Amino acid sequence: MDDRASELKRRVGAAAAELVEDGMVVGLGTGSTADCMIDSLGVRVQAGLRCIGIPSSVRSGERARALGIEIGSFASHPEIDLTIDGADEVERGTLNLVKGLGGALLREKIVAAASRRMVVVADQGKLVDRLGEHTPVPVEVSSFGWEAAALRLGRLGARVSPRRDRQGGLFVTDGGNMILDCAFGPIEDAAGAEAAIRAIVGVFESGLFVGRATLALVAGPGGIVRYEAG
Ligand code: 5RP
Repeated sequence: MDDRASELKRRVGAAAAELVEDGMVVGLGTGSTADCMIDSLGVRVQAGLRCIGIPSSVRSGERARALGIEIGSFASHPEIDLTIDGADEVERGTLNLVKGLGGALLREKIVAAASRRMVVVADQGKLVDRLGEHTPVPVEVSSFGWEAAALRLGRLGARVSPRRDRQGGLFVTDGGNMILDCAFGPIEDAAGAEAAIRAIVGVFESGLFVGRATLALVAGPGGIVRYEAG
């Protein structure tokens, strides 16, 4: 990542961390932009802010804990005040999202669904007119019988690739599942696609987040622009 991209992520992460109020239960997203938010939240906690983080991945939980952010669980906090997370694509107008290129989409969606508000942090390169324009839709599936789910996803019109790890083996999520990256091209009906994907047996969740984000903070060279869901 070049210095300019890193700086944009740091700025938007810091702006999002400012939205956390004393006493909140906060969903902690996953990815490089969410990491920047966690770092800024850590600074606020070290200065006296009280909050409880519910992480969407092992990685984010470890990062937050190392910064002194108290980590809670769904057992004690089944409702979350505010979740702040990154995205791979943000649809202009709707704020529907593609998420999961970082591999945490199932936990991210569970955290988002338990949240009163979800704020997305991104740089302007993530804005699209239609989801699927630039990225595949990651789909988290059972490792047992994944080939059958892949066949059915293909019949929905996707080019399907099982996600690989750096060693070339099949990628395994924090929950022990697999990810199928499904290239659909531009998606006209994101809600319909989300429902059709979820109806396939063996699919746990898709990376289509429809109607979840309430606000997007988008960083560009001119500063941070706020977009509210329309
Ligand atoms: C992880 C995600 C991330 O939020 C998404 O991949 C964006 O990551 P980054 O901020 O590093 O671009 O969905 O599963």
